[in-house]
Amino acid sequence: MSGKKKPWGGRFSEPTDKRVEEFTSSLHFDKRLYPYDIEGSVAHCRMLAAQGIISPDDAEKIISGLQDILKDMGKGEFSYSSDLEDIHMAIEKSLIDRVGDVGGRLHTARSRNDQISLDMRLYLRDEVTNILGLLVGLQASLVDVAKREIGTILPGYTHMQKAQPVLLSHYLLAWWEMLDRDISRLKECRGRVNVMPLGSAALAGTGFPIDREYVAELLSFSGISKNSMDAVSDRDFVAEFIFDASLVMMHMSRFCEDLVIWSGGEFGFVDISDAFTTGSSIMPQKKNPDVAELIRGKTGRVYGDLMAILTIMKGLPMTYDRDLQEDKEPLFDTVDTVKTCLSVLSDMTGNLKFNRDRMLESAAEGFSTATDVADYLVMKGIPFREAHGIVGRLVGYCIEKQKDMESLDIEEIRLFWKDADADIYACMSVKGSVSARNIIGGTAGEAVLRRIEEIESGRID
Ligand code: ARG
Repeated sequence: MSGKKKPWGGRFSEPTDKRVEEFTSSLHFDKRLYPYDIEGSVAHCRMLAAQGIISPDDAEKIISGLQDILKDMGKGEFSYSSDLEDIHMAIEKSLIDRVGDVGGRLHTARSRNDQISLDMRLYLRDEVTNILGLLVGLQASLVDVAKREIGTILPGYTHMQKAQPVLLSHYLLAWWEMLDRDISRLKECRGRVNVMPLGSAALAGTGFPIDREYVAELLSFSGISKNSMDAVSDRDFVAEFIFDASLVMMHMSRFCEDLVIWSGGEFGFVDISDAFTTGSSIMPQKKNPDVAELIRGKTGRVYGDLMAILTIMKGLPMTYDRDLQEDKEPLFDTVDTVKTCLSVLSDMTGNLKFNRDRMLESAAEGFSTATDVADYLVMKGIPFREAHGIVGRLVGYCIEKQKDMESLDIEEIRLFWKDADADIYACMSVKGSVSARNIIGGTAGEAVLRRIEEIESGRID
């Protein structure tokens, strides 16, 4: 299409350079917005008719044309002409082809600047809802496994060094809590997405007597934007969403990192099912945790999307600038990535098989109950700092003699604390250590079961 014949070609006398057409076009990626673009146009058209800005007859023709386009696009039967700039132009051109000049009335009191903001908001509102559903699904998988593994003990780590025994269920519910914060962040984000920008037009609003509240009502928005300049230049909601999604990815990535480590031979804590692992093209014995690794890797990609949108925005003069067209690919990429990762991780989690004996054995190694012995001494009246020193020396002795604490005889323990008697052994057991931590937020079986009950009954704070 020559520059002259373009919808905006009135003031142009020369054709657009072919490369410029390709360079400026967003159609190949923004076509996914078509259902939202049409939904927004139908609402806008109804409002124009209700306000007497276009006739009811014209509105009917326009709406039925739009509905035909929606059908064709849905069936994959729409032919997108590559010289059209974007999805808005593709739909408008096809509308005019189908219903004649009357199609040209649809764009009254509207600009692509407020139209694209509307489309992005409608699209993201839906996708945030989809992502929330997937987050709840992953949470449900975690709770299922936590219930199934309620007696399983895991060595807990700090600094990647064995620290204290914990329940595997407690560990799994830690991810549940992180996802719960992700859910509340995304719900808040959805509130800020759910604002109707139409009526802002190019940047200054419109002189037509439009009814913005009515459009918002037709499209189920909870409010309308209050400044036309802000509305057409704002993509905070995109950046905010990608940030929230980055945290979701980071949480999944950390969980996957543990699964990668734990599924290796050195740990052998978990077996990831065959359906969620892959083999090596050269080493026949291998079963690799590629899904977990890819989720970890794709986190970097979403962080890249976040950097992209923040950088695109940082130098933009008010108001709309074409740079904003670059908001779409990072957004779509984040939406697609976070959705696939959540769905695959939910299923993978539900299929994990934990090696309970191996974890219990490992939890008992490394003097993981040393803190419990120090706490026991405190109960006997010794100040904590002193108790810490006594147990530290006791551990040093064990290392030197290559013994664990439970195998020391009482005389050996008395070398470090002269009043020791036999009940000291009770606090050295891994199970005792876990069940002693029966406080809100602690790892004791009772505390974890209480939390599961709260989660399942919806009493969540
Ligand atoms: N494709 C454009 C975008 O995504 C739509 C808005 C175009 N507006 C304009 N003034 N050229 O941002």
